[in-house]
Amino acid sequence: MRIAVVGSGYVGLVAGACFADLGHDVILVDNDERKLSALKNGQVPIHENFLPELLSRHRGQRLTFSDDLQQAVRASSAIFVAVGTPPTERGEADLSYVESVAREISGAINGYKVIVEKSTVPVYTSEWVRKIILRNGAEPESFDVTSNPEFLREGTAVTDFLFPDRIVVGCDTERAADVLRQVYEPLTSGSYYLRSDAIPQPDRASIPAAIIVTTTKSAELIKHASNAFLAMKISFINAVASICESVGANVNQVCHGIGTDSRIGPRFLNPGIGYGGSCFPKDVMAFRAVARECGYDFRLLDEVMRINEDQRDRFLRKVRSALWTLRGKHLGVLGLAFKGGTDDIRESPAILIVQALLQEGCKITAYDPAAMERAQEVMNSTLKYAASAYEAARGADALLILTEWEEFANLDLSRLNQELKYPIVIDGRNLYDSEVMAANGFTYYSVGRAACHPEGVPAALRNGAKKA
Ligand code: UGA
Repeated sequence: MRIAVVGSGYVGLVAGACFADLGHDVILVDNDERKLSALKNGQVPIHENFLPELLSRHRGQRLTFSDDLQQAVRASSAIFVAVGTPPTERGEADLSYVESVAREISGAINGYKVIVEKSTVPVYTSEWVRKIILRNGAEPESFDVTSNPEFLREGTAVTDFLFPDRIVVGCDTERAADVLRQVYEPLTSGSYYLRSDAIPQPDRASIPAAIIVTTTKSAELIKHASNAFLAMKISFINAVASICESVGANVNQVCHGIGTDSRIGPRFLNPGIGYGGSCFPKDVMAFRAVARECGYDFRLLDEVMRINEDQRDRFLRKVRSALWTLRGKHLGVLGLAFKGGTDDIRESPAILIVQALLQEGCKITAYDPAAMERAQEVMNSTLKYAASAYEAARGADALLILTEWEEFANLDLSRLNQELKYPIVIDGRNLYDSEVMAANGFTYYSVGRAACHPEGVPAALRNGAKKA
């Protein structure tokens, strides 16, 4: 099938590369010349597993890049719109890019086209896209507007795309549904997974992929409701973690106890410094705004956002309670990305915490395996960068863990202890077992668990006694 993908951001680029891997001919359209020439020259603009392989496999063959939207529309049967929908000041999604793409598509319709919303958009968007295309002269029978939300997580976007829990396809005509069924046929029939060059299957993959066909509006709502629900799950466990801290319970045990109920499930129950990224903060706000516009006052979502912000303040209070005064204190920071496995720092709670601590006069040396270059673009020059976790810890009054990189969960604890001036670790991601940390000579603060001190550990377990 010939497919156009409009917008070469995160979603568009991953979708385009994966569609090409499914065997389709894809034109990836963007109006940013610099982005296009970087892509044509073999650069990979985002840090994403398997994306470099897919781009080099298909670039210039099944995957081409163009700035000519109308030509791409004429050449394709399905046009996936994956342009940005940034938040406005009122928290709504700004749909002006979607509208201008719809206008341009209209003039290029030369046969039946399925226009697919891939960006996260509010529930009334498909109706507007249809109106705009009609207003600009297209025949009503010559196109359908559909919704095919993506559920990709950054860092695992390619495997999430190729091994999805489900594919949601929102269409109001059978004709459009057939086109989208065809697009995903290699995944739903399972033929993709039999190929020797298929991207390796991750744990927990359920193959072949399931497809859920709904109305367009339902699909639009599924996307917002999914992200809002996941954000709610994180805020819920963060609130429970705060109670655990007050009463001396252990949030890990509580998570295990509730997560093993199959109706609740264990995933997205990791407490920490709150959710960030380009999706949850924006989508919860946008869903709140959509509900308001529809006449429903979705106050639950206000509370989800409030708990999320509060989580950062609680962490800052924890740093203060561990170190007393902050001015002039030297902190090592592990993690700047909004989560592990990505170089993305958008709405990163780690960045917001580092900024707050710099403002309080701390001297910070940070290390992140992928996000330091991006951080340099937004952080003031007082932030120093290290080449490794140990270098970030060197001579520091305390070490802060702010991103859940796997690398940070496997540090050599005795080396870390030797590097730090004081063996204090304040872990915003609960990467370590408190008792192991205490046994290795650390004073260890985490989220939803009691602080541990080396003194509290029986002598027999104390193998990491600190130098004087
Ligand atoms: C999220 C959704 O998980 C995807 O399904 C969705 O497609 C995507 O948004 C989107 O709308 O494009 P993503 O933002 O890449 O994906 O990252 P997540 O893995 O969901 O993490 C989001 C934030 O929540 C991170 O800051 C992470 O550290 C935090 N988090 C996640 C927790 O604090 N606890 C958890 O248990 C899980």
